[in-house]
Amino acid sequence: MSVVPYKEQNASKKEQVAQMFDNVSPKYDFLNHLLSGGIDILWRKKAVKLLRKAQPKTILDIATGTGDFAIEALALKPEKIVGVDISEGMLSFGREKIKKLGVESIIELQKGDSERLHFADNTFDAVIVSFGVRNFEHLEKGLTDMCRVMKKDGTCIVLEFSKPSVFPFKQLYNFYFKYILPVVGKIISKDTSAYTYLHDSVQAFPDGKDFIQVFERAGFNRTQCLPLTFGISTIYIGRK
Ligand SMILES: C[S@@+](CC[C@H](N)C(=O)[O-])C[C@H]1O[C@@H](n2cnc3c(N)ncnc32)[C@H](O)[C@@H]1O
Repeated sequence: MSVVPYKEQNASKKEQVAQMFDNVSPKYDFLNHLLSGGIDILWRKKAVKLLRKAQPKTILDIATGTGDFAIEALALKPEKIVGVDISEGMLSFGREKIKKLGVESIIELQKGDSERLHFADNTFDAVIVSFGVRNFEHLEKGLTDMCRVMKKDGTCIVLEFSKPSVFPFKQLYNFYFKYILPVVGKIISKDTSAYTYLHDSVQAFPDGKDFIQVFERAGFNRTQCLPLTFGISTIYIGRK
């Protein structure tokens, strides 16, 4: 049974996830940086640096949300970055940010489902995703389609929450993630479930070696796993 934001609803996980991100979109960026103490920005920067050597000209940012990872990827000076997301609410805040930065000719945000990408095979030099794959309805299907649209010898970077395992960090983190974060998230976002779902979905998500197994089944090879900040997050790298 997969973890969904609104347990009382019959809608699919994908519909619920889109609804939840539409609901929290006005406060998403603010809460992200507040609840992580700004460390999410450093994680995205680190993930982008890993692509420097590959120098991708075309990048697909999956589950782009309000576009933070796509904007960070501008540091690579690519010709084109396409961001896709199923939440129109998140995309509209992203488009505003891109317009303010004056980078509309490089970054384009489109509505799209990662499990059914509307791009031809072997289109992009790099495919990136931050804090998105945990929300997929079918993880392997989403990763397989990401692999399909990436060129041979391209690089895929996945940044996602993971579960720290070292004492006492594990215990402190669990307390914060289970009891503090849902309360602050609920007060500020006004969504009753979004930040409880965050905790539950991280607990249920296959991290570390378990993620690598799914990643490789989806078609990626030469995979690597880089835990960040005591394992709160992990960067996964895969090639095709
Ligand atoms: C936690 S946000 C991450 C946004 C952004 N990447 C970031 O780092 O801030 C997760 C995003 O995944 C999107 N999402 C979930 N499932 C998706 C799918 N199947 N296809 C495309 N986007 C999806 C949600 O709508 C949401 O905007």
